[in-house]
Amino acid sequence: MKIVLGCDHAGFEIKDAVIAHIKEKGHEVVEVGTFSSASCHYPKFASAACEKVLSGECQLGILICGTGVGMSIAANKHKGIRAACCSDVFSARLTREHNDANVLCFGQRVVGIGLALDLVDAFLEAEYANSGNHVTRVAMLKDIEDKNL
Ligand code: RB5
Repeated sequence: MKIVLGCDHAGFEIKDAVIAHIKEKGHEVVEVGTFSSASCHYPKFASAACEKVLSGECQLGILICGTGVGMSIAANKHKGIRAACCSDVFSARLTREHNDANVLCFGQRVVGIGLALDLVDAFLEAEYANSGNHVTRVAMLKDIEDKNL
């Protein structure tokens, strides 16, 4: 897969290790910044990553900030993005399987590098169930988007 990765200054320290890990697993990574530890604004990088998912250039996105929360809020403002802020492996897997999440967010100040890599693995290895109530519920999410332009 082609994975887009974005971070802010508070996710900058671990992003290279995350990128290296994703590549080791055989995926391609497109980086959209930030590219230094200087203070910056997470919505900009969330948007840059989401645009690559929405255009189809990348299949999934990973966003890292201090908590993962700001990135997930920003990402979920984009129509068609289902971003999940996770700090446990079970949720990172289930959000792909049940919610068809296309962006994983986590916080460098919340998770250590070991857990970060496990979250990434769980998210990238899981597949959307694409059946039954899950399809109904994801369609309902799309309905909410359409009603709230
Ligand atoms: C930056 O200090 C921090 O607020 C940001 O990385 C993120 O955690 C916001 O949700």
